[in-house]
Amino acid sequence: MTLAPKDSGRAAIGEPTSRIDGRLKVTGAARYGSDLHGGANPAFAYLRTSSIARGRISRIDESEARQVPGVLEILTYRNVGDRVKPGKTFSEKGYMGTSIAPLASDKVWHDGQIVALVVADTFEAARDAAHRLRIDYAEEAPSATFGSAGLTEGKATEKTEAQQQAAKQQAGGKSKEGENGGEENPKVGDAEGAFARAAVKVDQHYETPTQHHNPIELFTTSAVWNGDRLTVFESSQNMWGFKYGLAEQLGIPADNVHTVSPLVGGAFGSRGSLTQRTALVALAAKMIGRPVHLEATRSDGFTIATYRAETRHRVRLGAGADGRLQALIHEGWEVSSRPDDYKVAGIDASTRLYACPNVASNVTIVHADRNTPGFMRSPPETPYLFALESAIDELAYALKMDPVELRRINDTQKEPIKGLPYTSRHLMPCFDAAAAAFGWSRRSAAPRSMRDGEWLIGWGCASTMYPTQVGSAAARVSLLPSGRARVETATHEIGTGVMTALALTAAEELGLPLDKIDVIVGDSNLPPAPVAGGSNSTASMCNVVAKACREVRLKAQSAGGGAVEALASNNPHGAPPNGVEMLYRGKPSLAGGAKLKDRIQFAFGAHFIEVRVHERTREVRAPRVVSAFAAGRIVNPKTAKSQLMGGQIWGIGAALHEATDIDRRAARYYNNDLAEYLIPVNADIGTIETIILPEEDRQVNDLGIKGIGELGNVGLNAATANAVFHATGVRIRELPIRIEKLL
Ligand code: MOS
Repeated sequence: MTLAPKDSGRAAIGEPTSRIDGRLKVTGAARYGSDLHGGANPAFAYLRTSSIARGRISRIDESEARQVPGVLEILTYRNVGDRVKPGKTFSEKGYMGTSIAPLASDKVWHDGQIVALVVADTFEAARDAAHRLRIDYAEEAPSATFGSAGLTEGKATEKTEAQQQAAKQQAGGKSKEGENGGEENPKVGDAEGAFARAAVKVDQHYETPTQHHNPIELFTTSAVWNGDRLTVFESSQNMWGFKYGLAEQLGIPADNVHTVSPLVGGAFGSRGSLTQRTALVALAAKMIGRPVHLEATRSDGFTIATYRAETRHRVRLGAGADGRLQALIHEGWEVSSRPDDYKVAGIDASTRLYACPNVASNVTIVHADRNTPGFMRSPPETPYLFALESAIDELAYALKMDPVELRRINDTQKEPIKGLPYTSRHLMPCFDAAAAAFGWSRRSAAPRSMRDGEWLIGWGCASTMYPTQVGSAAARVSLLPSGRARVETATHEIGTGVMTALALTAAEELGLPLDKIDVIVGDSNLPPAPVAGGSNSTASMCNVVAKACREVRLKAQSAGGGAVEALASNNPHGAPPNGVEMLYRGKPSLAGGAKLKDRIQFAFGAHFIEVRVHERTREVRAPRVVSAFAAGRIVNPKTAKSQLMGGQIWGIGAALHEATDIDRRAARYYNNDLAEYLIPVNADIGTIETIILPEEDRQVNDLGIKGIGELGNVGLNAATANAVFHATGVRIRELPIRIEKLL
């Protein structure tokens, strides 16, 4: 067949395009992981979770539960034990979100830990029986969060049994500290000395709260065995990782594991690492010889998956009277579980946002009796830029300087730690574009100086940044005699519009109309793709699809009709070229951001927000936000704008509403449902303006794509706190900014 020339003016990268899966979604025909129960006649699983946060199970009485009609099996530590291996965590280059294997022993590590999984003919019978299990505990007093008694700092001192065994086997081996690229704590010059000498200083503490992803699609899993082959249906951001992780946990070859996740009903990081539930459901299906479907409850989701842990910060900024930063010291403290050393360490970004000759940083993990936290949208930047961008605003007031001008004075095209050049950095053009659209020049600088009747008006701003990363990826493109093209890859449609981005890429490269292109994703039998995290998918996948299309184009020229196909892969890690499968296996990390040797690559943006604080009630409203972003080439401006806008809305919610509340005595989340977990509704959101600046950057990858998924929300928490200060003269350093903090 003959392909149109590449520049034939058809659908292409950069055309605002409606989602190709949009019709399926709005008509209800779309199938998500949760919709797939693994064929006919599945049994249903229900979780029983612990009601204590620390201690041991002293007794389990199953007799009443076993009598519920339809009950098929009850899994507890007594019949699971080491039949499921805990698996390696993400930070150990594995795939798990936690090293806590819940049914490995009688040990309880956190409230809401899975202590039993009941399988029955119906969901109702499983639930009934789960509640009729009698479980007694030997309880110890738990440590809930910062300020609780019994916390430990630094490396975990309490280890799971599996971790202890692994440590024994590895004794004498090298420490893994600082591996995975980059230095541990960015540092340059003499920050303490420069801070002591600085003419103008800020030295403040900031706090961000616990948050849970709460995707609308619940945490569900279906497992089906066909002989010794396992198929798992589960919405996932990391299907290939799940395949290998499950194989490791179940002790079976990875080739025997097939994972399926066609469309994902929200993730935000919660489906990037494998939870411990999946292997338990697979084991249950094996034990009863029948497919098992688990639909965990909304509340279970708070403790069987990960979350954004609460953080504390001390930021010290020292500047000359001219506003130039002389010292920046950022110390962070992050809560993790007892056995895991998970941390987000946003100092990688916060120490590199502004020019500064003397920088120091440190992160301390604080261990509590909690489930292990994990990635949640822009995990490092969200809390760490709240602290930094609040402190920068405080410095602007101390200097009596406009906060935009302070940022301009300290703008840089080289990161300050090693002097590496940014591949492209249009932070100040973002400030200028958003400031103009917002009307920033009409701001009167003094706090409490703008009002409308009983409403105090505040205007605030802040920067956002997010690393540009790429993961190992492969894609197959086929050109069929019918004139249609097919793009196949095991990437994840988590709602971002990646399928449409891939279709646009293929349309441009092949010169075909969009409706002649089929995009097939969400199945581990397809060519491997990286975790849909770290905002890498569009950059990784579009580049590799473009490469496959170019090969198809060449093949089509020489082939005289018939189908042609090409399988292309990239290799950002320099892995040996022994087949595309190896590209992903054992190499789950992404390359980019501040982890490269010769350059640094980030996307940037600027937020401006107006808040109105009622003088008597202290109610805070956010009637308008204007943000501008410079994030490389935008594949689909329509979905990009929508995604960035979603980030802006999340930013407002995180600033004013969102937090998981913890009962300090029980170390338990108590607003663990969508009625009590506050997110913005339409009435909380006014006008949102989203400006995307054109940016060309061919250093980041062939197509010049940076990624936008986690850029939109970062920094808006600080911009909001800065606006609240401008309105009221009250500086809120602990999120969220609820009424009681302004009384
Ligand atoms: Mo994102 S938190 O990297 O899924």
